[in-house]
Amino acid sequence: MNKKYDTIRPIVWQDDHLELLDQRILPGEYKFISYTEVKPVADAIRDMVVRGAPAIGITAAYGVVLAARHRYAGNPDNWLQGMQADFATLAASRPTAVNLFWAIERMQRCCAGIQGDPEPRLLEEAHAILQEDIAANYHMGELGASLIEPGSGVLTHCNAGALATGGYGTALGVIRSAWAQGKITEVHADETRPWMQGARLTAWELLQDSIPVDLNTDGAAAWLMKQGKVQWVIVGSDRIAANGDVANKIGTYNLAVLAKHHGIKFMVAAPTSTIDMSVACGEDIPIESRDSSEILSLGGQKLAAQGAGAWNPVFDVTPAELVDAIVTETGVVERPNRQKMSELMEKS
Ligand code: MRU
Repeated sequence: MNKKYDTIRPIVWQDDHLELLDQRILPGEYKFISYTEVKPVADAIRDMVVRGAPAIGITAAYGVVLAARHRYAGNPDNWLQGMQADFATLAASRPTAVNLFWAIERMQRCCAGIQGDPEPRLLEEAHAILQEDIAANYHMGELGASLIEPGSGVLTHCNAGALATGGYGTALGVIRSAWAQGKITEVHADETRPWMQGARLTAWELLQDSIPVDLNTDGAAAWLMKQGKVQWVIVGSDRIAANGDVANKIGTYNLAVLAKHHGIKFMVAAPTSTIDMSVACGEDIPIESRDSSEILSLGGQKLAAQGAGAWNPVFDVTPAELVDAIVTETGVVERPNRQKMSELMEKS
């Protein structure tokens, strides 16, 4: 394990409760919030205390543990019945990242076989989801780095790093591994409006691990590519459809189109828990829209002209034909299509 470049853990089970690093206030403040009940955990996901597809799933798994503790204390003979409302509360928090639903379903299956106090068994399962995620990220890091030629510059979007996962990251896991191998000359990160995940989170976490990073405005990507500064765009995903279409942070599709135009490679790093074979293509992926105030203001400061409206879909879909490689813990799919995706999932 590459500990030197892996120092951040945003989700921690501490003794008897969950602690989440508050990503809304990074990088100015580094503060954890404690959770002992499921409803505040769902609120934390919705309000972006924790964000990023795998991190949302892991958090929901721990939310199920807290829910089961309360349900069992209230009604030891019929705790599982009460849990249905808790599963629904967690599932309603954010719609796009399929890792959320994947984790809830896994915890639901686990609940079904439990006799007696459910907490120890559910806690074991939530810990397993967290540890498997970190292990998957390390493996993807190696697989993704093997595709990168020495001397490459890379561009990433949003935050698909340790902060968005159990640790190490998907896209940033690939960047960490390739950096450790001395293959990367420069790392560029889009600011990523409106939540500034690139400026606030990606820049912070790479600098924590002593990996230098240059921010650019989202609109500068084409010009950056034109200068020949980047050879790979590397991003994460919230949901990958059965045909290889990729939903990720709004602006990802722009980068894929630009990369194609400039002859730059486009990589998506995501665990198989992000692949949703029940969704035929990207058009069927639910895309979250958030409040217009996220665009009209910044950090609580009004930004836009009084009276302006705003359109705020927070994800977009990149068609599979613009993707050079989907890197998962099970293997790499180059130039994804329906058949290659189903072959990959049969192996997982
Ligand atoms: O709105 P966010 O910050 O949750 O969006 C996160 C992303 O779009 C990430 O790129 C994606 O979840 C992959 S995280 C490994």
